[in-house]
Amino acid sequence: MTKTMDTDTSTATDWHEAAFDVMRGVGAYTSSPLIRGLSEVIAHHPQADVAVAFNHKQVACKMWARQALFDTVGGKFKRIVILGGWYGVLAAMFFDDTRFEIGSIDSFDIDPDVGNVAETLNQAWKDRFRALTGDMYSLAYDELDAGLLINTSCEHIADLPGWLRLLPRGTRVLLQSNDYFSEPTHVNCVPSLEAFVAQAALRQIDFAGSLPMKKYTRFMLIGTV
Ligand SMILES: C[S@@+](CC[C@H](N)C(=O)[O-])C[C@H]1O[C@@H](n2cnc3c(N)ncnc32)[C@H](O)[C@@H]1O
Repeated sequence: MTKTMDTDTSTATDWHEAAFDVMRGVGAYTSSPLIRGLSEVIAHHPQADVAVAFNHKQVACKMWARQALFDTVGGKFKRIVILGGWYGVLAAMFFDDTRFEIGSIDSFDIDPDVGNVAETLNQAWKDRFRALTGDMYSLAYDELDAGLLINTSCEHIADLPGWLRLLPRGTRVLLQSNDYFSEPTHVNCVPSLEAFVAQAALRQIDFAGSLPMKKYTRFMLIGTV
């Protein structure tokens, strides 16, 4: 029993060190600030579940959001606020994309343990990025002065219409949800794009689309409340 646990621990440690070495090498080779940030996360936040946050499905969903936003609204934003921003992957992908001119991004999350990770990932843009701990139901949206609010965690909040009602009329939003009902932390999935449109009830919809993945379909809306 003890032998098995020792073996597991040392395998996990080796895996972390190897991942850090590879990511640092890839960062040096590509000169990518995002990859350098990712290697720093692996080095300094070994507890962070970055393998989930940066898996190919999560990345595909965020690249889809980035492209749809660029095609629909353009790339110039004085200030973006991300709700349920987790480890700051979407923010890093925006900063990393040279088509975008973004004054600042604030990333709010209710989990006090994710902010440090998000700031490490976004350290290359630390003059324009802040990770803040907060419940998206308790923010003073009138005072946020954001040109765009992004919530790609709609499946994680119990009352999407209730949250949207807190936003000043005319606020531009990008929303994502999904039909991944079997994931226990998903408290508010929707079965279809039509159901998501109905649930959000935006005053104006500029983009509505679905992205089929292997186990689920992700839905996205861009519009105004
Ligand atoms: C698993 S993550 C993100 C999943 C999503 N697919 C994505 O990558 O954008 C969901 C995040 O929402 C956050 N969250 C849930 N309820 C929240 C709330 N009321 N206010 C702020 N953040 C919240 C959680 O802490 C978590 O970090």
